[in-house]
Amino acid sequence: MARKWWKEAVVYEIYCKSFCDSNGDGIGDLRGVMSKLHVLADLGVNCIWFTPIYASPQIDNGYDVSDYRSIDPAYGTIDDFKELLDMAHGMGIRVIMDMVLNHSSDEHEWFKESRKSKDNPYRNYYIWQPPKPDGSEPNNWGSYFREGNGSAWEFDETTGEYYLHQYSIKMPDLNWEYEPLRKEIYDMLNWWIDLGVDGFRLDVFTRLKKPAGFPDTNKTPDPVLDRNGFIADGSMCTNVEGIHEIIHELYNEVFGPRDCMTVGEGAGVTHENALGYVSRGREELDMVYHFQLSHRRKYSISADHFRTVQKNWSEVIERGGWSVQYLSNHDSARQVSCYGCDSEEHRASSAKLLATLIHTTPGTPFIYQGEEIGMVNVKYDTIEDYNCCYTLGDYNSMIASGVSPKEAIDTLAPRSRDNARTPYQWNSEENAGFTTGKPWIKVNPKYTEINLEKDLATNDSIFAFYRELTKMRRENPAIIDGKLEFLCEESPDVIAYLRECEEQTLLIIANYSKNTVKFNSPEKVALGKWQRILTNKNNTLPSLEKTRSLLPFEVEIYELKK
Ligand code: GLC
Ligand code: CA
Repeated sequence: MARKWWKEAVVYEIYCKSFCDSNGDGIGDLRGVMSKLHVLADLGVNCIWFTPIYASPQIDNGYDVSDYRSIDPAYGTIDDFKELLDMAHGMGIRVIMDMVLNHSSDEHEWFKESRKSKDNPYRNYYIWQPPKPDGSEPNNWGSYFREGNGSAWEFDETTGEYYLHQYSIKMPDLNWEYEPLRKEIYDMLNWWIDLGVDGFRLDVFTRLKKPAGFPDTNKTPDPVLDRNGFIADGSMCTNVEGIHEIIHELYNEVFGPRDCMTVGEGAGVTHENALGYVSRGREELDMVYHFQLSHRRKYSISADHFRTVQKNWSEVIERGGWSVQYLSNHDSARQVSCYGCDSEEHRASSAKLLATLIHTTPGTPFIYQGEEIGMVNVKYDTIEDYNCCYTLGDYNSMIASGVSPKEAIDTLAPRSRDNARTPYQWNSEENAGFTTGKPWIKVNPKYTEINLEKDLATNDSIFAFYRELTKMRRENPAIIDGKLEFLCEESPDVIAYLRECEEQTLLIIANYSKNTVKFNSPEKVALGKWQRILTNKNNTLPSLEKTRSLLPFEVEIYELKK
């Protein structure tokens, strides 16, 4: 059977607001994206994922949708979008849309209706509960964005009931128990497919189903972050029994018949439960975006952790599932700052090493905009310069519990989502070439040093290296189909593995450390005849002899000569 296109794909995530501004209002837009599509084609990207570009009050930068069948006027029009689709398709680039199905904006027409009266036809599109006899919230759940008093329930005067919002007060949860809502969503998804989109990324899909009766969580509150006894406990609404029926119905009504690509953002999906969502026979999703390798609360990866996660997920793939490979996205900090080293000396080498690991392990690689030029974290001095709701909510909680503003920023900055949301650094002109106006969020001051124009001027840049990796994916079947086998598993620094399929064997060796280390070729390797096909260090000679040294963050790919 022919391979599905998405197994061969390299997906590029576009955070439109920060990508390229065509009209000087400081906000990236669709015309801006169109003007740069050729760069993505040159990079070897063949699918783009747009984070939400629908009409939205922008409380959570578009994850608060007020009209699912529109384009936010700040980004352009539906006609611009159609033009973009044609242009992308003409370059061999598919387009997938982010679908936020757990919640909408409170400014969505459905919610405006829903809150009007208890018998409004849209009442059950959302989750309403009466207060407890003493008038308090229906349970002790806290919201992730930690607004208001911290509760995940907001009281609405008009009808005297509370509505559920796992995220912002302005992002009420949709009620998937209610068939008319489900039908409305299926129609809308099919409408996007009719328009020509190639698939969907499903935002927080594991949280669509809520537990019957909305029981309290018995988790202990986090002394700094949880507030007034309300606890933001993700497990309460994640992978709740009945979630599979919802996803399967989505498959039957939309994904299956239309043969579109689906990737679910899988908070709470591990190698142990993944096959429930992604194995073929389940008829649910094509792949999940899991948080086992990279997690924004714990930014660290050891060689051991890398091996364990990759082994576990390669089993998921062998058993008929599929997965995503990535290290960063719009919700995380910059990967080279978190998992590599962003010093002048090591930035390029470590960025290339991380890219190699992601692009040569089993699954579909996702690139987050700016990663391909090694963009790094930013640090602002005052909270006013931050935008991310998590950062702002956590900041307020910390200040309320007596932490100083400086300490709060020092703690929150390294993991703020704003690290990933600073404007794309196109060149060393004002505002990094992102806009001729005032950018909606400050540009990272490192842009004079780190920008695309600079990378395009040399052939050993990070960008050029990514281009090599995407080309290798097109040319080397083992990268997609090869079985994964780790070597030197006891090593704390060296990550080495084979990818082996019928046609080909590849070997990847990486020194995941700042030191020069020894590498002892296992017999299996030393006996073979290998050709080096990629390296991130100039002027080194290929060598797989018994013992050699590897430079800091050195990475190489070899092919076995038969
Ligand atoms: C997902 C998105 C994130 C958003 C949240 C709520 O995690 O990636 O950006 O804030 O869902 O929609
Ligand atoms: Ca604009």
